This record gives sequence, structure tokens and C-alpha cells, in this order.
Amino acid sequence: MKKVFKKGLGVIGATIALGLVLAGCSSSSSSDNSVKKIQDKGTLVVGTSADYAPFEFPIVKDGKKQIVGYDMMIAQKIADNLGVKLKIENTEFPSLISELKGNKIDLVLAGMVSTNERRKVVAFSKSYYTVKNVLLVQKKDADSFNTVASVKGKQIGAQQTTTQETIAKNQLKGSNVITEGVLTSLTTELLQGKLDGVVVENEIADNYLKQFPGKYAIAKVKLNTPKEQRSVNVAARKGDKALVKRVNKVITKLQKSGEMTKMFKQAQELQSKYGK
Ligand code: ARG
Repeated sequence: MKKVFKKGLGVIGATIALGLVLAGCSSSSSSDNSVKKIQDKGTLVVGTSADYAPFEFPIVKDGKKQIVGYDMMIAQKIADNLGVKLKIENTEFPSLISELKGNKIDLVLAGMVSTNERRKVVAFSKSYYTVKNVLLVQKKDADSFNTVASVKGKQIGAQQTTTQETIAKNQLKGSNVITEGVLTSLTTELLQGKLDGVVVENEIADNYLKQFPGKYAIAKVKLNTPKEQRSVNVAARKGDKALVKRVNKVITKLQKSGEMTKMFKQAQELQSKYGK
């Protein structure tokens, strides 16, 4: 009896071992050369939309125009980890996913949240930031838009193809939602009185309040940010599993060491020092 039992265990053991080997082959990155490809070309190309301080924005430093920000610092860490140079491709947010799918860029770092819709077409890293949405208005209107009803018939801006567009259309019913590819155009139009409000994420709104004292305010109307629209992640091509694994490793390291939090503050400082 005892012997049979032992034998049985042996077989089970062997089966488990074989299973582990097979699982190792299929789930690991051995068939995916996404990391190697980047290392072979020596450059990591990151796509972004530099209208989103403190995540990504242009500055002029030492007479040179450059794109900096929290996302760009993370991108640099990923490039360093891969041992390659970083190249930033600046484009409008709505084009980023198709540029990724069309192999024009290797990763997207653009304050992009991992919605269920996007998950169908791209892969996402683990989360590195959490956001919620607010309505940015002119300072003089700070107390005018307290309820959804008060926004009825108003002109509300949202960046095209973003979660802000969905939130504006679904939650600010009765308003006219105006979308554009570049967020900074919308926030300028808000100051010019062409728009009554712009749906943005909290950190972006805070940034405008700091950058332009006395010009903007956050309206009291409550917007709900669905769970799937809160987590900011790096986007990669679906097949690039090895690359996503590396990105996750870098993010985990930055989070554990406390650097991730520091970098966000550094990005905010850069913005107040050099941003316009
Ligand atoms: N988090 C929002 C989204 O993923 C907006 C991101 C906009 N990013 C930018 N760089 N303009 O839809």
C-alpha cells in the first residue's frame, strides 16, 4: 500500500515538474524579442503628448527646447535599465495608440490610464499613478458650476479620445462637449471665454492653478472617475511581454526606493521653474 502511494506521488511529482517546465516556456519571454530588438537598435522610442504638465511638457532650458516631466523621467529610467538611449516622439494624444501599433514608437508614456477599451488593443504595465477628474473653470466662475444642472447648455472642453471626453459626455449631460487634440488649446480657450469649463485630471488642474495664479479654479460639481479610468500605466504592444516585464521591474524598483514620489515633485518644480 505504502509503496504504491509513493510511486503515485512520484508520477504526480514528475507531472508537476513537466508542467512547470512547459509553463515556463510559454509564459516567459523566450519567444518574444521585444527587449532584444530595442537593445539592438540602441534606442528606446517613447511616444508622448507634451501638453500635460507635470507628466510631460516642453521647457526651454539653456536655450534648448526639450520635453520633460514625470513620465519622461520614468522613460529615462526604463532606457537606462535597458542600456539604451531615450528618444521622445511628441505627438497629439489621439495618435499615440496607432503609432504604437504601427511600430513608430516602442512605448507610450502619456499619463494614459488603462481603460478596458484600450486593454483590448494594447498591453499595460503596472500602475504608477492614480488620478481623478474635475472641472476646471475660470476663477470668476468658481462658484457658478456647483451641480450638473448648472453646466447645462455650457461649452465644456475635453481632450479628444481621452477619458475626460467620456466623462464630459456621460456625466455633464446637456452641456456642449467640444473636443480637440491638444489640451493646452482648450485651457487657453477657457481663459478667452470661448469655453466655460474643461474636464481635466486633478493633478493637471492643480498645475494650472499654480502656474496661472488668479486665473483658474476647480468647480464644485462632482465628477465620478470610474475605477478603470484611474490608474496611469505605460502602454506597450500586446506581444511585447518581455518589455512590459522589464518596465514593471523598473516601476517596482522606483516605487520601493521612494524615487517615484520624488520624481513627481521634481517634475512639478521643473514646471514652475521653466514652464510657461
Ligand atoms: N488620462 C487620460 C487618458 O488616459 C488623459 C491623458 C492625456 N495625456 C496627455 N498627455 N495629454 O485618457
